[in-house]
Amino acid sequence: MSSNGIKDRVAIIGMGCTKFGEHWDKSADDLLVDAAYDALGSAGIEPNDVDAYWLGTLGQLSGLTLSVPLKIPYKPVTHVENYCATGSESLRQACYAVASGAYDVAMAIGVEKLKDSGYSGLVGAEPPSDGTTSSMTAPASFSLLAPAYFKKYGLDPKKGKEVLARIAWKNHRNGARNPKAQFQAEVPMEAILASPKVAEPLGIMDCSGVSDGSAAAIVVRAEDAKKYCKDPIYIKALSFVAGPGAGHMDTDYDFTTFREVVASAADAYRQAGITDARKQLSLAEVHDCFTPTELVLYEDLGFSARGTAWKDVLDGFFDLEGGLPVNPDGGLKSFGHPIGASGLRMMYECWLQLRGEAGPRQIKDPKLGLTHNLGGFPGKCVSFVSVVGREGT
Ligand code: COA
Repeated sequence: MSSNGIKDRVAIIGMGCTKFGEHWDKSADDLLVDAAYDALGSAGIEPNDVDAYWLGTLGQLSGLTLSVPLKIPYKPVTHVENYCATGSESLRQACYAVASGAYDVAMAIGVEKLKDSGYSGLVGAEPPSDGTTSSMTAPASFSLLAPAYFKKYGLDPKKGKEVLARIAWKNHRNGARNPKAQFQAEVPMEAILASPKVAEPLGIMDCSGVSDGSAAAIVVRAEDAKKYCKDPIYIKALSFVAGPGAGHMDTDYDFTTFREVVASAADAYRQAGITDARKQLSLAEVHDCFTPTELVLYEDLGFSARGTAWKDVLDGFFDLEGGLPVNPDGGLKSFGHPIGASGLRMMYECWLQLRGEAGPRQIKDPKLGLTHNLGGFPGKCVSFVSVVGREGT
């Protein structure tokens, strides 16, 4: 299999992101227009200057979902969808289109308007099946990671719960420094540990929020980037894989890893030339839909050796001031999770951090950032990993 990548051939020259959270007074159209114009403004261009658009959102049927509100008739607008990795999928396709030479300027944009749809992690699961496919809610599916990890690495459940709470504590602490986050308050460890149970051992505070929001990126070929922008950021790697989806039928699967993440990380690191992610990355935005997901991701992404991530969590290694800050913007936990927008929101934080624009949560002198976006459930998922950098070649 070859996955040649497009290292340093494409750059992001503008990004935009709405506040995530409850937008009862705005439609999905309004959010799309807000994020698109935020991105266009930061690149100093107009909608008509963009040659092609990729729109990521769930359950829509066409590019009209974007062309109508943005008033961009007769432009190519492609609708894409790939579970919770939908926003990253739109970016991946826009980047490849520009790298191919087919277009000079492309926009990737994602949106979701979940709050007034009644969407929740606790409803809408598939009806019970014969056991060969998951029929659990999202929190229940991801809760299975926790006891599996605790047992495999000898953590008693109380200690394990403390590790999970420490992840939520960190992400809320980071989100409290982010004016666009859904939940902008620090939450004490005791409150996280005592939050009402959703799916044992997970409480509400182990879950990402249900949110409305939109985010957008504008990409051009790397050699054109400085015509638009003094500080573009450069795509080093984009990797996407879909797993076999064997789910609960796979007797070898022990719920302490996402094999799809391991595969996409290896591919992305090869494309970017990364040999030691823990040391070489300056920050990472990972798919913390639930706290045990983030714990397992630290090991799947190579930030911690197998069985040791829980120690790194307690040592503060992934804190804003730690060796490798993870989810400095608050992550899905605190920034929120409007599904089609989340992958681009992760990239938005890399954009801000690498350009020194992250305000009170700014990391010192970052050079390389990673985004990781997961879609689906343990045992049945898709995974996306990107690496971006402040310097081109
Ligand atoms: N984290 C922190 N606080 C949360 C929260 C979360 N995930 N969800 C809700 N809250 C807070 C609200 O801000 C509100 O606070 P307030 O009373 O101070 O205003 C309070 O809890 C109640 O909010 P409400 O919207 O009524 O919560 P809910 O009970 O409807 O939803 C969950 C709670 C956990 C069910 C919901 O957040 C959820 O479904 N999360 C998971 C989403 C999911 O599965 N996504 C897919 C990932 S694969």
